[in-house]
Amino acid sequence: MTNADLPGRYAQTHAAAARDPEAFWLDAATALTWDRAPTRAFDPDQGPYGRWFPDGSLNACHNAVDRHADGSRRDQAAIVYDSPVTGTKRTITYGALRDEVATLAGILAELGVGRGDRVVLYMPMMPEALFGMLACARLGAVHSVVFGGFAANELAKRIEDAEPKVVLAASCGLEPNRVVAYKPLLDAAIAASSHKPTACLILQRPQGKAALDPARDRDWAEAVADAKGRGVTAACASMAATDPLYVLYTSGTTGKPKGVVRDTGGYLTALAWSMPNLYGVAPGETYFCASDIGWVVGHCYIVYAPLLHGCTSVLYEGKPVGTPDAGAFWRVVSEHKVVCLFTAPTALRAIKKEDPEGALTAEYDLSAFRTLFLAGERADPDSVAWAERVLDRPVIDHWWQTETGWPIAGNPVGLGLLPVKHGSTCVPMPGYDVRVLDEGGKEVPPGTMGTIAIRLPLPPGCLPTLWGSDERMRQSYLATFPGYYDTSDAGIIDEDGYITVLGRTDDIINVAGHRLSTGGMEAVLSSHPDVAECAVIGIRDTLKGEVPCGFVVLKARVARDPAVIEKELVAKVREEIGPVAAFKLALTVPRLPKTRSGKILRATMKRIADDEPWTMPATIDDATALEEIGESLKGRGIGGA
Ligand code: COA
Ligand code: AMP
Repeated sequence: MTNADLPGRYAQTHAAAARDPEAFWLDAATALTWDRAPTRAFDPDQGPYGRWFPDGSLNACHNAVDRHADGSRRDQAAIVYDSPVTGTKRTITYGALRDEVATLAGILAELGVGRGDRVVLYMPMMPEALFGMLACARLGAVHSVVFGGFAANELAKRIEDAEPKVVLAASCGLEPNRVVAYKPLLDAAIAASSHKPTACLILQRPQGKAALDPARDRDWAEAVADAKGRGVTAACASMAATDPLYVLYTSGTTGKPKGVVRDTGGYLTALAWSMPNLYGVAPGETYFCASDIGWVVGHCYIVYAPLLHGCTSVLYEGKPVGTPDAGAFWRVVSEHKVVCLFTAPTALRAIKKEDPEGALTAEYDLSAFRTLFLAGERADPDSVAWAERVLDRPVIDHWWQTETGWPIAGNPVGLGLLPVKHGSTCVPMPGYDVRVLDEGGKEVPPGTMGTIAIRLPLPPGCLPTLWGSDERMRQSYLATFPGYYDTSDAGIIDEDGYITVLGRTDDIINVAGHRLSTGGMEAVLSSHPDVAECAVIGIRDTLKGEVPCGFVVLKARVARDPAVIEKELVAKVREEIGPVAAFKLALTVPRLPKTRSGKILRATMKRIADDEPWTMPATIDDATALEEIGESLKGRGIGGA
């Protein structure tokens, strides 16, 4: 079978985009409301590889909110906020959403925020965070959301790089086991950053109020009440399609995160295409993406795509388990008549662990529910098969990255469901010309593993550049394989054109669907005064997929108890990167296993930790070092020696 033999409209659609991308994407762009409709889809001469819709202009907030509020969806729910951690539920119609967003945009404008200015958001999953993102979009300001599980130091790096005029934050976030005070983290981040925002708008939550600095901080609720009293609002600014809508920082191979830039017209076009064709969802239906607005998945499928498409988007502040139980997602699906649920495989594994027979699905009316989508990490076939069995619906694994902004590959149910192959992320979406290359950049035959690369140009929606650095964009993604974008994922394309993603080719690891840099963790460990050298690897974990494990060699004259130092190192990573790193394992070893040229043998260390067969590398400098790694892991009940 070849791609062309696949059932449904997929093959012809992908072929149409490849044959005439101008016509395909100009047609897709008609799903949006433009101030000035584009006459060209792509200009290859702008930016590191080209820019989409170079002469179009539009506003993202108008497309996501106002055009529905002004039309027949005014009284339809735009957002359903469902928060088991606070015991709150709130429905916000498109009309009400427009009022809230226009007011907040007015407040931001009075604080001096205008076109192109940056606004950092450090907020949990609450409606005001969405109002903030959309208010920025309304003004043509660039939002940059920082995930709440990152510590002050990581927030500081992002403030330093994005140079926001204003920060929007909540006083606290709510984890099932604790209240996370965000404001002290924000204060510490601003203190550590050389760039200082002129103002912070702080949303006081009753679960943990924050002390405000009268010179810099304003109370969010008071500002909104005041603005509403004075009738302060702001209108949608007409922006170039190529203007940045947001910057989202993601882990790179160094401790310095990469600011992925998202443009406006290309991104919204790709999202609008994906809703009916990939997800098979119609306007007016309810979409539930159980991610977090701090991640790309949340930006796309909690905020922009469902709203663009006139859907109701569920904003869920809770966990898949423990809030209160493993039936939480099924309750939300049933209560809000969700047709499409999108989550990470790790969430599914957490549910499966607590409710192995899926008994809780029977307690809810899931009749509206059609499809489960998974992404963020490799979906293990066991969990996919389990979900298919207990839900009796298609379970679709799809693959993407912060950089691409929408899925690279998936099973486009709206074009006709393709045969599902467990372990595979199915076929490339239109505009993606996906190839598997060997180390020399030569394409490998079907079924052969290599680095997955995308032939340039990237389709609309993908990053045009990195914030402030076309050069870093070129070096990071375009230099390895000239003419291609290097995904840094390894994988296989089979005879049917199905893509299987096997893992990263760089030092990024994926912990509970969260992308983290082991290099960043090594930088933290190395800065401990007793550490001579270190290596962090991702080791297999049945719940989170992978968890980090750090091996450290202490300086020669250190006489302190290694167990105490190990605890300090665990605390240091939590303090400097954040709880999201899930760094719980630091092991002191006499030396690190290296090749004779000094390269640390991380891949072999990982095989030992994962209890996979391994061979002694011929180039090893000192074979006992690997045995010591095995012994230290065995001491913690991990792997085999
Ligand atoms: N703010 C502050 N802290 C946060 C946080 C946030 N927004 N999100 C997570 N954390 C903390 C957690 O409380 C935890 O802290 P702890 O070490 O004190 O327990 C730590 O960060 C690690 O969190 P996580 O890896 O998410 O583990 P968990 O045990 O809290 O939950 C799952 C496990 C599987 C339920 C959870 O990881 C999950 O729902 N994952 C889905 C991920 C996802 O949707 N990813 C988006 C890609 S599509
Ligand atoms: P992020 O940028 O946080 O979305 O993480 C992107 C990385 O997560 C990818 O480069 C992959 O390594 C991994 N990833 C995302 N989705 C999948 C998937 N469906 N299958 C396998 N890996 C995935």
